[in-house]
Amino acid sequence: MSDASANQTTKFQPRVFSGIQPSGGLTLGNYLGAMRRFVDWQERGLNEGFETIFCMVDLHAITVWQDPEALRRQTRELAAGYIASGLDPAKAILFNQSQVPEHTQLAWIFNCVARMGWMQRMTQWKDKAGKNQQNASLGLFAYPSLMAADILVYHATHVPVGEDQKQHIELTRDIAIKFNNDYGVDFFPVTEPVIEGAATRVMSLRDGSKKMSKSDPSDMARINLTDDADAIANKIRKARTDPEALPSEAKGLEDRPEARNLVNIYAALSGKDVDSVLAEVGGKQFSEFKPMLADIAVAHLSPISTEMARLMEAPDEIDAIIGKGAEKAREIAEPILKKTYDIVGMIRS
Ligand code: AMP
Ligand code: TRP
Repeated sequence: MSDASANQTTKFQPRVFSGIQPSGGLTLGNYLGAMRRFVDWQERGLNEGFETIFCMVDLHAITVWQDPEALRRQTRELAAGYIASGLDPAKAILFNQSQVPEHTQLAWIFNCVARMGWMQRMTQWKDKAGKNQQNASLGLFAYPSLMAADILVYHATHVPVGEDQKQHIELTRDIAIKFNNDYGVDFFPVTEPVIEGAATRVMSLRDGSKKMSKSDPSDMARINLTDDADAIANKIRKARTDPEALPSEAKGLEDRPEARNLVNIYAALSGKDVDSVLAEVGGKQFSEFKPMLADIAVAHLSPISTEMARLMEAPDEIDAIIGKGAEKAREIAEPILKKTYDIVGMIRS
């Protein structure tokens, strides 16, 4: 754990929490930028003796309209993606947000701590609500307060997220600090964001300046975790590149976003750094490099898509795993919520 958190580890045990919205479609970007990092945290937690908790945040997903059947399927698909990527229910807690009611119970209290002005400043709110804020759901506005509750109902100290979520983690810290001040307690930890670096950002296969995203209108821009070997190879073959050969040093990738992206993906999937990849492939044309990348991508992703497909055929197995996960999550969340109610002045029988 970082030095910055040393002041907390005396009172708050390190604990890692993160979540992904089951809003449909998982890409290589989600895998390299989020799920694979979660698996690293799981292993580290096991070695160093702290808990790791990962969630499908379905209550966040419904802040914008979701078809009910699609939501159920997407939630199971995300669970299958987590498991197929290496999250192990015996090592980490894996569950669905709405199955642990303590999240929404704490969120209400945080709604009364957080200020309207704080929410109004959130860039995700401004982006998602667009011009017609009056017509956005109240849930979309209060979204960061529920996110703070997700984290703080476990007293989580570290939250691995993408850069776009940094502002929400800062708001989580503000809520914890204001709660502690308002009630004169030292009850909620001031959580550390663990931000994904640029190196783990996977860009579109059609435009190296845009993030690879499930919402890109072109399916050729992304590799889906459910793509089969042919689809993966085809998308890599057709990926946009420039006419130059690959450089032998990283600085030769500056101003070549598409080339840089493909090399980054190769490096991430092979577990090598960019310099050693370029030492190996420098001077090659894309016609030679792309099949190498396709091979490694297929070798790495095929077992994941196969396991996801198997689990999607066994929804009962998924439901049993996340049901047990929710029980384990509640064992941690329930006493923390009870203590919060005591602090706030609610009668408990
Ligand atoms: P989203 O699918 O945008 O809700 O993101 C879910 C998680 O995946 C977040 O932790 C993101 O930071 C991560 N993620 C999504 N797309 C990418 C990408 N192209 N590169 C790296 N990480 C990503
Ligand atoms: N807002 C996050 C996203 O869109 C998802 C999320 C909800 C989350 N609750 C969380 C992430 C708690 C980390 C911790 O990516």
